[in-house]
Amino acid sequence: MSTILLATEKAFSKDAVERIKKVVENSSHRFQLLENYANKKDLLDAVKNADALIVRSDIADIEVFDAGKNLKIIVRAGAGYDNIDIKAATEKNICIMNTPGQNANAVAECCFGMMLYISRKHFDGSTGTELRGKKLGIIGYGNIGRFMAQISKGFGMDVSAYKRNPDPVAMRIDGVSPSGSFEEIFETCDYVSLHIPAVADTMGAINYSLLTRLPVGGTLINTARLEVVNEDDLIKIMEERNDIKYVSDFMPKKADIFKEKFTNRWFAPAKKMGAQTEEANVNAGIAAARQIINFFDKGDTTFKVN
Ligand code: 3PG
Repeated sequence: MSTILLATEKAFSKDAVERIKKVVENSSHRFQLLENYANKKDLLDAVKNADALIVRSDIADIEVFDAGKNLKIIVRAGAGYDNIDIKAATEKNICIMNTPGQNANAVAECCFGMMLYISRKHFDGSTGTELRGKKLGIIGYGNIGRFMAQISKGFGMDVSAYKRNPDPVAMRIDGVSPSGSFEEIFETCDYVSLHIPAVADTMGAINYSLLTRLPVGGTLINTARLEVVNEDDLIKIMEERNDIKYVSDFMPKKADIFKEKFTNRWFAPAKKMGAQTEEANVNAGIAAARQIINFFDKGDTTFKVN
């Protein structure tokens, strides 16, 4: 019998936790819970007896691996696993997985909602603009990008997308125009939505040179990661051009500058909200639990990323 610890600083919904617990308890394994923990020490204490760990954006680094001497697997209940030190985990022979696609619709709906919200000027009573007929450029055409394209096309938007390893035929079947570069997307789209992971070559990739290409009134939407946008460059272009807008499902590092200078040209919630729905909590959490159970019971390593 293995102990599976669900440790989330940003808690899943009550129902999701109950359902994850039930999945574990219906197997031959033990369930342990640590929610809303305030400091890392709580995580280090809780992980001591765990054989497996389920996390969200929680930092899983060498300290956690050293404290969790029995850890054999960590599943990031979500898509991006930049919060996990993959190299250190691999050295410790800990299997790392994610649950791709499970929270994708939640993120896409949040992304679309923010696009609508900014186009209607925060519903502040003044005149906004419509999305129909506008051009949306998607950078990173994975699970979230595809949902975003579907919803936006339903609103009559013209969608193009950039993908590192493109499949132009599949994109055209989705009614999406393939684009060859970030530059082309920025030059031609009214709204640019980011759906790329935070990895070495995407850190700060959205820089001044790209941002200057946005057409008049252009909006950048970031539900990917803070690190993929060069925040100083974003501030610079928003200072130089008062037509540019920015929405994100997490606070910029220099939020005070945004609050002071850009008033109704930006929006971001206090906590990362993209995946925060009942459905995404249930889907990603249960997928994570099942992946761990299958790993222990059948040696299944589908979704292993290291
Ligand atoms: C993800 O990578 O899956 C999303 O960014 C969601 O992150 P969260 O689980 O911390 O909300």
